[in-house]
Amino acid sequence: MMNRSRALLFAGLLLSASVPALAASSEQPDLKRGEQLVKTRCMACHNTTMLKQVRTYPSLYGQKSAYLFKQLTDFKEGRRTSVTMQAIIQGLTEQDFRDAAEYWGSLAPVKLKGEAKE
Ligand code: HEC
Repeated sequence: MMNRSRALLFAGLLLSASVPALAASSEQPDLKRGEQLVKTRCMACHNTTMLKQVRTYPSLYGQKSAYLFKQLTDFKEGRRTSVTMQAIIQGLTEQDFRDAAEYWGSLAPVKLKGEAKE
């Protein structure tokens, strides 16, 4: 009886130890999904034309994807406030953030010095 419950406990520990590993593997960014999302939902404001015209629009080109992901999560959870961005990401999931962040991070940085409104 004692041995059996020990065995069950051990099996339980093994199982719980393997769960984070499984979760991590499904949290991989999908660049293709990210590209589609960015082109339909983000480029209206974050493209180079808008970056040159609106001085408060930040460039995301070539930014570290981990940084972008954190900003998106912060907007979602209210740690960072922006009326615009918090409205934009309503309904987007963590996986959407991961995919979009990965795509932005994969793009070459753009040079805006001297071209953007200061
Ligand atoms: C209607 C215009 C608009 C759209 C569309 C838009 N954004 Fe933004 N975004 C902004 C503005 C304005 C800011 C600056 C917010 C602030 O004041 O902090 C911003 C900031 C950000 C930041 C923080 C950048 C930094 O340097 O900290 C990220 C990340 C971001 N947007 C991602 C996205 C993603 C991903 C999408 C598409 C799902 C998107 N945005 C669509 C206007 C927009």
